[in-house]
Amino acid sequence: MNDTLNLHPPAVLQSLVAATRAMGFTMASDELTGSLLRTLAATKPAGNLLELGTGTGLATAWMLDGMDAQSTLHTVDQDESLVAVAQKYLASDSRVTFAAMDGAAFIESLLVQQKTFDLIFADTWPGKFWLLEETLSLLKIGGLYVIDDLLPQPNWPEEHPPKVAQLIAALEQRPDLRLTKLNWSTGLILAVRTH
Ligand SMILES: C[S@@+](CC[C@H](N)C(=O)[O-])C[C@H]1O[C@@H](n2cnc3c(N)ncnc32)[C@H](O)[C@@H]1O
Repeated sequence: MNDTLNLHPPAVLQSLVAATRAMGFTMASDELTGSLLRTLAATKPAGNLLELGTGTGLATAWMLDGMDAQSTLHTVDQDESLVAVAQKYLASDSRVTFAAMDGAAFIESLLVQQKTFDLIFADTWPGKFWLLEETLSLLKIGGLYVIDDLLPQPNWPEEHPPKVAQLIAALEQRPDLRLTKLNWSTGLILAVRTH
């Protein structure tokens, strides 16, 4: 099996990738992660999805491609120029709502509103390395928590590996999660909240 063949990416992806490269954004999610997120999004009919760290909207596009017409996706990034790119290509889809603000403040506002989610893709600092407990509390029972970028990269600063190890250990120790670690793509964890 070749996992990179016949991914059938969403039609908008090519333009989004070109725009992402043109602006020199190098932290974009890869196609394998995108395809997994699309598959997971499709398991949540009428689902409420959350992405922390929109970037230019690559994973956003993949998730939208898996979501049904009744599903919704909230996505946040603090960098307005990145959000503008994602909005240019994806905002015509009424299922997605963009927020250009600090992710920690966004998480706090979701807690105040007592929102809950069927799938959370945590792809930035808040929701992954900070506010983990708060973010997991936004998950419904049976909801999926997904993180990537867990395998060492040459560009990681010296202080990053221990933070990743700490995050993985914190997730492994939680009695309310069932998780699978995937040494695939950039290194992912899929976790489901059980209670
Ligand atoms: C790994 S990238 C996200 C990639 C994106 N999910 C994709 O599919 O290409 C991480 C993003 O987090 C954003 N970011 C960093 N700190 C943040 C914060 N405190 N709140 C919100 N976004 C933040 C960055 O601007 C960057 O776009």
